[in-house]
Amino acid sequence: MQSFCYYCPTKVLFGKDSEQQVAQQVQEFGGSRVFVVYGGGSVVRSGLLGRVQSALDGANLPCRMLGGVQPNPRLGLARQGVQEALSFGADFILAVGGGSVIDTAKAIAHGVAEPSVDIWDYWEGTRTVQKSLPVGVILTISAAGSEMSDSSVLTNEETGVKRGLSTPFNRPRFAVMNPELTYTLPAYQVACGIVDIMMHTLDRYFTPTKGNQLTDAFAEALLRTVIANGRTAMQDSHDYEAMSELMWCGSVSHNGLTGLGAAVDFVPHKLGHELSGKFDVAHGASLAVMWGAWAAYSWREHPERFVQFAREVWGIQSGSEQERAEAAIRETVQYFQSLGMPTDFTSLGIGVQSDEVLWGMADKATRGDAMRLGSFKPVNKEAAFAIYQLANQ
Ligand code: NZQ
Ligand code: ZN
Repeated sequence: MQSFCYYCPTKVLFGKDSEQQVAQQVQEFGGSRVFVVYGGGSVVRSGLLGRVQSALDGANLPCRMLGGVQPNPRLGLARQGVQEALSFGADFILAVGGGSVIDTAKAIAHGVAEPSVDIWDYWEGTRTVQKSLPVGVILTISAAGSEMSDSSVLTNEETGVKRGLSTPFNRPRFAVMNPELTYTLPAYQVACGIVDIMMHTLDRYFTPTKGNQLTDAFAEALLRTVIANGRTAMQDSHDYEAMSELMWCGSVSHNGLTGLGAAVDFVPHKLGHELSGKFDVAHGASLAVMWGAWAAYSWREHPERFVQFAREVWGIQSGSEQERAEAAIRETVQYFQSLGMPTDFTSLGIGVQSDEVLWGMADKATRGDAMRLGSFKPVNKEAAFAIYQLANQ
C-alpha cells in the first residue's frame, strides 16, 4: 500500500426532503449572502429552485441566481459568475445541479476569493489555488461525483481545451443528496451517470499497485452495486432504492476511497476529455467509448489485474488468463451497450475521424507529448493515438 493523505471533509445530508435543510447548512458554514448556480432549466421545471429560493428567503439569506450552465461547462460563464458574485458581495456559493453546475460553482468560488487572478490560470496550472469561498451542493444527478471530489473540470470554449483542476479547495462544505431529485432525469443521462460512476472506480482500480486489499474490496463492491442497480434504474428511474444506491456510489466512487493507497490511472478520462472538448459529447458517453479501447490496448501490461476484475466483478472463474481478461472486457463493454451507451466513434455520433484529428487529440491530451498519462500502462502521444485508433470505427 502506498502512503496517502485522505482528506474528505464534505458533510453529507442524504435522503428524502434533505434539501429542506439547505438554509441551515449555509448558515452553519458561515454563509450570509448566497450566490446560487444552476444549469439549463431542469431545476426550474422541477420546482427545486423555487423551493431553494423560499428556504433562503425564509432564513433571511439574500441570494442572487446564475443559470445557464451547460454540460461540459464553459470558462466564459464561470468568469461572468465571478463578476456577478463579486458585485453581489457573495460569501457563499450554492450549486443546484450536476457536475457541470458544481464545477462552475467551484470556479466562481476560487475567482471571488482572489479576484486579481484569471481563474483559467488555475486550470492551466500556472497558479495554485490559495483560498476559496465555501461551496454547498444540492445534487440532482448521480454521475460526476463533484459533490465530494477535489476536482473541477472546465472547457475553454475559445481553444476547445477541457481540463481538470484538483485541489483540496475544491471539496464542497456540504452535499445534499435526495435520490428523489434524480427522478426527472432522461434515460440517457442516467446511463451516462452509471458509466461515469463505474469509471471513477475503474480508473483507480486498474493500477500497478499490488496488495491493497481493503481498497480493492471497496472498489469491487461498488462496481457490483452500480452494475446491478444501474440495470434497475434503467427500467424504472423512480425506484428509490436503486437511485439511492447510484447516488451514494457516485459520491464514494470519486471521493478518493476506492483508490486509496494506489497509483491511479485515469487514462480513459483524459482521452475522453479531449473528445468532449472537441465534439461537445456527454462526459459519460466519452468514457464508454474510450474504456474498451484503453482496456484492449493495456490489459497485457498487468493481466492478473484483469483476471481479478473478471472474477470479483463479473464472476468469471474459468479459462486461460487471456480468455478471462478478454471476457471481462467484453462483459463491461456489453454492459455499457445495454445501457444504450456508445462504444465507438460512430455510435457516439461523431463518425470515423481522420488520423490528423486523432493526432491532434493525442497531442492535446499529452500536452505535446510532454506528459505521460496514467500508471497502469503509461501513455505517451503515440500510445494515445493508438488508443484513439481502436475506438475510431
Ligand atoms: O442543465 P440542466 O437543465 O439542469 O440539465 C442537465 C444536463 O442537461 C441534466 N440534469 C441534471 N439533473 C437533472 C437533469 N435533468 C433532469 N432532471 C434532473 N434531476 O443532465 C444534463 C447533464 O448535467 P451535467 O451537470 O453536465 O452532468 P454530470 O453530473 O454528468 O456532469 C458532467 C460534467 O462533470 C465533469 C464532466 O467532465 C462534465 O463536464 N466531471 C467532473 C468531475 C469532478 N468535478 O470531480 C469528475 C468527472 O470525472 C467529470 O469529469
Ligand atoms: Zn468522470
